[in-house]
Amino acid sequence: MDTEALNRCKMERSILEHLDAAVLLFDRGLNLRYINLAGEMMFSVSARHIIGQNACDLIKCGGTLQDVFTRTMKFGHPFTEREIPLPLPDGREITVDCTVTPIRTPEGIEQILVKLQQMDRRLRINREEHLLSQLQAAQAMVRGLAHEIKNPLGGLRGAAQLLERELPDPSLGEYTRIIIDEADRLQALVNRMLGPVRLPDKQEVNIHQVLERVRSLVQAEVGERVIIDRDYDPSIPPLLADSDQLIQALLNIARNGARAVAQDGGRLHLRTRVLRQFTIGSQRYPLVAQVEITDNGPGIPPELQERIFYPMVTGSKGGMGLGLSIAQSLVNQYQGLIEFRSKPGKTVFTVLLPVGNQHGERQNSLGDR
Ligand SMILES: Nc1ncnc2c1ncn2[C@@H]1O[C@H](COP(=O)(O)OP(=O)(O)OP(=O)(O)O)[C@@H](O)[C@H]1O
Ligand SMILES: [Mg+2]
Repeated sequence: MDTEALNRCKMERSILEHLDAAVLLFDRGLNLRYINLAGEMMFSVSARHIIGQNACDLIKCGGTLQDVFTRTMKFGHPFTEREIPLPLPDGREITVDCTVTPIRTPEGIEQILVKLQQMDRRLRINREEHLLSQLQAAQAMVRGLAHEIKNPLGGLRGAAQLLERELPDPSLGEYTRIIIDEADRLQALVNRMLGPVRLPDKQEVNIHQVLERVRSLVQAEVGERVIIDRDYDPSIPPLLADSDQLIQALLNIARNGARAVAQDGGRLHLRTRVLRQFTIGSQRYPLVAQVEITDNGPGIPPELQERIFYPMVTGSKGGMGLGLSIAQSLVNQYQGLIEFRSKPGKTVFTVLLPVGNQHGERQNSLGDR
């Protein structure tokens, strides 16, 4: 092969490897000949383990798709089917758009090319973008309001203190005490709403050290009744972040979980993984750290689920409804996102944090994964 052909070949391979859709090539017997990186990630398996596998064993979408493969091979009609459920080897099921294209040679159709584009992720990205913009608007409003409350509150408290000193009858002090105590309570609320006043102190942070700190804090609060186990992926590179902020965000989530299961048999599970070429909102990042905090509690009440990240939304007695809203805005500062899924017996909060984005390594989203 001459150099030009070799370079072209390398370029084509590189394009295939950077595509966000899974691309699979099957031969006449419908045995797999090639799978790109996105395909390996979709099926959670390396190419050398599945090359040679039959399309029917790999893409288990019932009879329809297999018929399509056979017909495309036989008659050469290209084919597209939208939003079909695809069961994966790890037990998950995703929704994909599937395009099947015959590859013709002078001898006839020798191969078919199958492109699988994950769609549920794309739908989620749209939802995420919507959620982020709504949250930012809600947070801006709450912060503006908190600011406006903060100043008169200081004056109110000061005036009550002066009044307390001048009271002719000490028994009236009960009333000024109420004013001062309530002003203090409001001040604490407003401070929490406004968040930290200092600038983040960004350093290289090992996410597992952050999680271990969260684990020991929560364990100390709930004692032995709740078992907290973990499954960490040691390959996650350090993040450039303020570790106190990350501790705060993860602690707010873990505390809710611990509170939901604070009884015998309660379990919290901390899990980390690294995701490659992953899209958050509309940005694609080469590397994203994923932290999952799972509990086996009763689940988030359905009527709260849509609003759970908004400030002042609470389902618990004595809760301020600020924990998740603060956690979300802290994580957003690092271009990250918190998502959740919840049903009775299993609530999973997923924190996604881009790694390396802090140096401006963002990529424009070419698609989703
Ligand atoms: N793991 C969970 N299981 C069940 N419900 C949850 C879980 N996490 C959050 N929730 C629900 O979401 C609500 C909002 O949580 P959030 O942390 O924002 O506020 P809060 O815990 O009520 O108050 P705060 O954190 O400000 O003290 C909770 O009151 C609870 O009803
Ligand atoms: Mg909370």
